[in-house]
Amino acid sequence: MKYKLLGPSGLKVSELCLGTMGFGTEWNWGVDQTASFKILDTFANAGGNFLDTANRYTEGSSERIIGEYIKNNRDHFVLATKYSLHDNLTNLNASGNNRKNLFRSVNESLKRLQTDYIDVLYLHIWDFLTPIDEVMRGFQDLVSQGKVNYVAISDTPAWIISSAQTMAQCLGWNKLVALQVEYSLIQRTPERELIPMAQHYGMSVTPWAPLAGGALTGKYLKGDKGRIPEQSKRLNERSVGITKVVMDVAQELGVEPSQVALKWTMQKPFTSIPIVGATKVSQLEENLKAITLQLSPEHIAKLNEASKIEMGFPHEFFEEAGVRQVTYGGFYDKIEKR
Ligand SMILES: NC(=O)c1ccc[n+]([C@@H]2O[C@H](COP(=O)([O-])OP(=O)(O)OC[C@H]3O[C@@H](n4cnc5c(N)ncnc54)[C@H](OP(=O)(O)O)[C@@H]3O)[C@@H](O)[C@H]2O)c1
Repeated sequence: MKYKLLGPSGLKVSELCLGTMGFGTEWNWGVDQTASFKILDTFANAGGNFLDTANRYTEGSSERIIGEYIKNNRDHFVLATKYSLHDNLTNLNASGNNRKNLFRSVNESLKRLQTDYIDVLYLHIWDFLTPIDEVMRGFQDLVSQGKVNYVAISDTPAWIISSAQTMAQCLGWNKLVALQVEYSLIQRTPERELIPMAQHYGMSVTPWAPLAGGALTGKYLKGDKGRIPEQSKRLNERSVGITKVVMDVAQELGVEPSQVALKWTMQKPFTSIPIVGATKVSQLEENLKAITLQLSPEHIAKLNEASKIEMGFPHEFFEEAGVRQVTYGGFYDKIEKR
């Protein structure tokens, strides 16, 4: 295992983050505490220290299981959790990005996690109601109180995150260190705005569902099912076409498709630390081998071609010859690019 710095911070995290949404049986596809502990042991023994959970996962069981696991070695782990989604349905303000929910949710998470601090707190999903300054001020107060070390964001439009980062910079508040987005060979649309934005602010990208929930392992094409419903986009014609190319590349390299799909998210010109889930030790063991795999430029090009997306406006407009001519006065090819 190698380690990366999380965004513009000095925090050292393993190059793979363990997703723990499947810890707990409440959602009818996850695993119990004993099985979760075995997965955690495998990850920790391989040098993994970065764990991802959320207040919402498995109705709190994911946090409870992690709390039980790390309680005797808390400082060793970099514990990331999230707030925003409901963890009870009786309180109007027990969901959303608002300050009341932020403080309530963090206090509940701390109890379930049996700790007095969270290493990385993510806003989970943007609610389009709460002003961003309310969120950033709340984050800053939690950091000042010692309840949270670093703040980060997930599933939020790029323009909102940009304004948050500018505000933090101007006011000397803690900047958001990581951007959590769905990102895989099947879901590349964050390449349009979110990932360039993260690069601009030096944020690490922490892709969720890097295996598209298991679709990119190729197991659904071999008849071995998991938790993805048949009608899911992850199993439509386009996704199956991409998965077949992943399987071809894996065969050429003599490795498993999961390793190819995972490595594609890691071998990037920006800091990318995928959050990968597993409900079996054998799955995690297989995925951990992605660490030593190296994809050649030819293989990356083949995967990129199979999974390419329309970038849309303004990206495609910028590439038009006439637009380049008027923008660079004919010197485009002679100018060093950033
Ligand atoms: N911020 C957000 O909105 C958000 C949303 C979703 C997830 N997340 C985070 O991202 C993490 C990962 O997401 P995810 O679990 O949805 O996606 P994923 O990591 O792409 O998929 C994990 C699933 O793939 C299957 N799998 C993994 N390795 C395998 C292997 N080697 N062979 C065969 N199957 C394998 C397992 O499915 P089966 O269990 O079906 O076998 C496993 O549960 C979550 O745990 C959570 O921490 C964040």
